[in-house]
Amino acid sequence: MLFSALFALSCWSLVLPSLSVAKPLPWAGRDVTKDAPYTVPVSTLSSAIECPSSTPIGDAPGGVVLLVHGTGSTGEESWGSTPYASLLPQLSPGFDICWITLPGRSQGDIQVSAEYVAYNVAPLASKSKTGTISVIGHSQGNLDIQWALNFWPSTRPLVKSFTSLAGDFNGTDEGPFLCGIGNLTSTGCTPATIQQSTTRLTGGGPSAFLAALHTFGGKALVKTTSLFTRYDDVIQSEQEPYPTSRLPGADSIALQDEGICGPAHLAEHFTMLVDTAAFALAYDALTHDEGDATSRFDKQYCFHYINETLVEGDLQLFAKTPDIVKSIVLDVSSFETEPQQKTEPALMSYVCESGSAENCG
Ligand SMILES: *[C@@H]1O[C@H](CO)[C@@H](O)[C@H](O)[C@H]1NC(C)=O
Ligand SMILES: *[C@@H]1O[C@H](CO)[C@@H](O)[C@H](O)[C@H]1NC(C)=O
Ligand SMILES: *[C@@H]1O[C@H](CO)[C@@H](O)[C@H](O)[C@H]1NC(C)=O
Repeated sequence: MLFSALFALSCWSLVLPSLSVAKPLPWAGRDVTKDAPYTVPVSTLSSAIECPSSTPIGDAPGGVVLLVHGTGSTGEESWGSTPYASLLPQLSPGFDICWITLPGRSQGDIQVSAEYVAYNVAPLASKSKTGTISVIGHSQGNLDIQWALNFWPSTRPLVKSFTSLAGDFNGTDEGPFLCGIGNLTSTGCTPATIQQSTTRLTGGGPSAFLAALHTFGGKALVKTTSLFTRYDDVIQSEQEPYPTSRLPGADSIALQDEGICGPAHLAEHFTMLVDTAAFALAYDALTHDEGDATSRFDKQYCFHYINETLVEGDLQLFAKTPDIVKSIVLDVSSFETEPQQKTEPALMSYVCESGSAENCG
């Protein structure tokens, strides 16, 4: 399995060299080879995981699936009432579900949030029946995951697959949305919002965080599927030529693609958490090592969950989740659990030591 994943990765890099977007630094040329240090105590890092099932994890033949939430929410708020928590464990071959809750509702420095993801990969993989885990992120959760895979390379062989829902790998031109009433130039924004922002609309570039990530991590580092909606109301742009969710080397799929649900499929940023088609494609990614997810896609899943009768009693709850999470995220950005600041957090020294950036704090 690992060999086929490595083989697939090396094929991608043969096929897609021109899609590599990292701007080489003058003295760069080495990939990250050793794990970054942790700045957060290990006991704090490990206490961020919750596995909601009443039975201990480790028996499900499909292994552990780790769910990573986005900016402004908690693990339970984002995932608790979704098909990922209640339907995935029931689908063949059966999965153990765990979610992480990042500090400060994931509004702080993404470098710190990523430590929580990176640290927990090995302990979860050691409990997982498959010896590996799969990770699924929503929104910023995917940047946490990609940063973790990039700067903690020991995690890569332990991650069987990574599925991104509405991930802003290339940042968002709409950073101020997540600032809420804030304003970068007057009151400031939370660190995670600044790190996810680009100034492309005014002729500038990505944040230092995104530029550093893209040096070596601007491409799939494990088997990656990136699912997104063209009608995303939070992360921008999701249009050609650079949908922010498209990650070179990943299988990047818009739900509105002709082979999926077509342009009439109305999915938004927060409905991605419960979207039937996104769920079907995420399940496909969990259960296939390779091949063409689009050709396997069954269009009935544009309207229905796989084996929907298993969760019939939960469908109304699922339907409420997007609005609940959206209002929490908007609300949080007005009361702010992390201090607002006007400048981006400094990059940690390991980022420069790895050759990913030139200016670190
Ligand atoms: C859906 O349910 C049927 C009948 O119980 C079962 O045979 C099939 O494996 C299930 N599909 C998945 C993906 O679990
Ligand atoms: C943000 O603050 C700056 C400086 O006070 C002001 O010029 C600008 O209009 C504000 N923008 C918004 C969207 O409120
Ligand atoms: C990000 O978008 C810019 C255009 O704004 C593009 O030049 C760059 O290749 C994109 N990077 C990635 C990793 O998609």
